[in-house]
Amino acid sequence: MRQLKENVLEVGAIDWDRRMFDELIPLPAGTSYNAYLVKGSEKTALLDTVDPTKLDVLLDNLVRAGVRTIDYIVAHHGEQDHSGSIEQVQMLYPDSKVVTNAKCKEMLVEHLRLADEAFMVVEDGQKLSLGDKTLQFILTPWVHWPETMCTYLAEDKILFSCDFFGAHRAASGLFVDDEATVYEAAKRYFAEIMMPFRGPIRNNLTKLVPLDIEMIAPSHGQVYNRPAFILDAYRDWVGDGVKNQVVLAYVSMHDSTRTMVEYFIGALMDRGITVLPFNLRDADTGQLAIALVDAATIVIGSPTVLTGPHPKAAYAAMLANVLRPKAKLAGIIGSYGWAGKMPEQLTAILSNLKVELLDPVLARGYPKDADFEALDRLADRIAAGHKELGILH
Ligand code: FEO
Repeated sequence: MRQLKENVLEVGAIDWDRRMFDELIPLPAGTSYNAYLVKGSEKTALLDTVDPTKLDVLLDNLVRAGVRTIDYIVAHHGEQDHSGSIEQVQMLYPDSKVVTNAKCKEMLVEHLRLADEAFMVVEDGQKLSLGDKTLQFILTPWVHWPETMCTYLAEDKILFSCDFFGAHRAASGLFVDDEATVYEAAKRYFAEIMMPFRGPIRNNLTKLVPLDIEMIAPSHGQVYNRPAFILDAYRDWVGDGVKNQVVLAYVSMHDSTRTMVEYFIGALMDRGITVLPFNLRDADTGQLAIALVDAATIVIGSPTVLTGPHPKAAYAAMLANVLRPKAKLAGIIGSYGWAGKMPEQLTAILSNLKVELLDPVLARGYPKDADFEALDRLADRIAAGHKELGILH
């Protein structure tokens, strides 16, 4: 239990040991499920709960905070790492109401066993007085589900943002104490769940502009007491600008593809392009996702397994397709033994990307002079594309 301001407490749980989220997202630094208690002169509100695995920590913190009554449980988001303990908290505080928007109510009814009368539905911009403190609800959809919202506590100038601006990071300090480390964690989080929703997030950032915000209190990671740090980072990530970078995700079985990849890295470097290679044999998908946030070009390198791409290359293509980064160009390089439709299959997987697909470079067996020349032509084409974008001079 930690205090943000007088009568505003963090009462959630730190999960030091969790290493995967959704059985998909690596969590190298653990995470936290932040819940906030706002004690007004007349009413008390709990903002979000915790993952059900940490319910005991939340309940212990509520006891330690001397909470006898909870009037409102604000649900910013229906996902279970924040909503999954609402039912148990409401059983202990039976007079409480679950305060949320209509869409989130609909989702909570589906995900939890809450009765209709458990809810108080609020509209965008609506205020709720706790006496000397006032909660204002701001609908911020699609960060990263359709029902997400924030709460602004005007008297203390705190924005409670739930997943928005979050970072999977377990830390004992309440406030951000190392911006470089938090930047990396927040970018990983953005890349893995927020990136496909850049448009709605841009709108939400605009919606927050009129608010006088001194602190941003997310539901994962530390509290930002210098909000400009994370607001500026988000503006950059959701913007249209790309960087002079090629993400090169590859895997190789018998060194043909690896030889092409190494040659191609050199060819790109010779042309002044930054290369971010990821050997998919053991790449951290979080690092790969981070690299996809800014890169102008994505290239997948794959051998042919039987008649198609190596499954690890297909996975990387599928990940990029799901995350929908803002890259402008994409290419495929690789090798085959006797036949196959590796490029066609990878191209089909990348169907969500709004990119210009460059001609693939495919070597039969070990690459030969003609294959290296084709890689040079591909590097030339990427350099020309980056010049057209104004990111290579
Ligand atoms: Fe942290 Fe979308 O839940």
